[in-house]
Amino acid sequence: MRTAAITAVGHYLPEDRLTNADLEKMVDTSDEWIRTRTGIRERRILKDPEKATSYMATEACKEILAKRGIGPEEIDLIIVATITPDMVFPATACRVQDQLGATNAWGFDLSAACSGFLFGLACGAQFIESGKHEKVLVIGADKMSSILDYTDRTTCILFGDGAGAVLLEPNTEGFGVLDSVEHTDGSGHTALCIPGGGSLKPASMESVDERLHYVYQDGKTVFKYAVKGMADVAAEIMARNDLDGDEIAYLVPHQANLRIIDATARRMGVSSDKVMVNIDRYGNTTAGTIPLCLYDWEKKLRTGDNLVLTAFGGGFTWGATYLKWAYDGSAVAAHAENALSAIQDN
Ligand code: UT7
Repeated sequence: MRTAAITAVGHYLPEDRLTNADLEKMVDTSDEWIRTRTGIRERRILKDPEKATSYMATEACKEILAKRGIGPEEIDLIIVATITPDMVFPATACRVQDQLGATNAWGFDLSAACSGFLFGLACGAQFIESGKHEKVLVIGADKMSSILDYTDRTTCILFGDGAGAVLLEPNTEGFGVLDSVEHTDGSGHTALCIPGGGSLKPASMESVDERLHYVYQDGKTVFKYAVKGMADVAAEIMARNDLDGDEIAYLVPHQANLRIIDATARRMGVSSDKVMVNIDRYGNTTAGTIPLCLYDWEKKLRTGDNLVLTAFGGGFTWGATYLKWAYDGSAVAAHAENALSAIQDN
């Protein structure tokens, strides 16, 4: 059987850090509140006004090409999961295609908020499984700082900027994406959204005055649905694939709130040492969280490891993916460091 396997992981994180102490000076909040309610200590911010989501996405993809030792012209398809496109149109994928020099690729953006990377992975996998494509880039990238109201303490403390990306290639040895579940419940659309700037409420002086171009979140409602949605969908994919907690090498959860992550892990029977958590360092990077976790844990991943990826986000959207890791991360990581330093030297 031809499956779609992740064969390389790349990332981009801006250098500038916004700590809880910094936020204490901007809004009425405290390091203690943020840490205990969310698990976040700091997040990264892309400060350069000339740079946007496509920049971070392209940098993540350049790292993949270097690690895998392939040229940009070999890429067939680029899927960018984002809610912070450089522009309303054209798609950010077009800008990534151009900046990367992926002359033979087509691409599109996918809008599914925090579930964007998982939805993108499901789409990309189909193009590999069907035999249509050999190399697909799936990117989760968001410049959340561009849509946050830094006077609103209920949202501005939660999010950060960043990008993660994976390369999908065919596998015939039983590794790669083995199953996925996706859900949408649009009745939740008002609980987490940007009300203005779309065709419903186009930008106007009034929409700006009413601050409609920023993220709005009814945190309590989203929290309630997220705890249930992420745990349910993880349990669903485990049941469908006869997996119990002991058989899972790592849970890779969307990083929105440590309490949601803990509840999901408990429901799955997965111990905390097998849960990827980096929310403390990056906050919620929306579509970026899951590939950024894969990047951070790559060195520890071994061929055949069972991974369950799960997310919940605006829409509402949620889902889970079951995959068998396809390579020895420590070997690739060593090779990658050489490849990357060779690029930097040139
Ligand atoms: O990734 C997309 C999906 N998003 C999520 O999954 C996020 C889901 N929601 C959450 O993670 C949580 O609801 C939040 C972290 C956003 C909020 O935590 P909470 O425990 O649900 O707090 P709350 O909204 O119930 O607020 C409790 C109190 C309120 O004060 P009162 O009304 O009890 O006096 C808030 O005004 O905390 C107050 N509060 C804050 N205090 C200090 C809200 N934000 C802050 C803040 N600093 N930043």
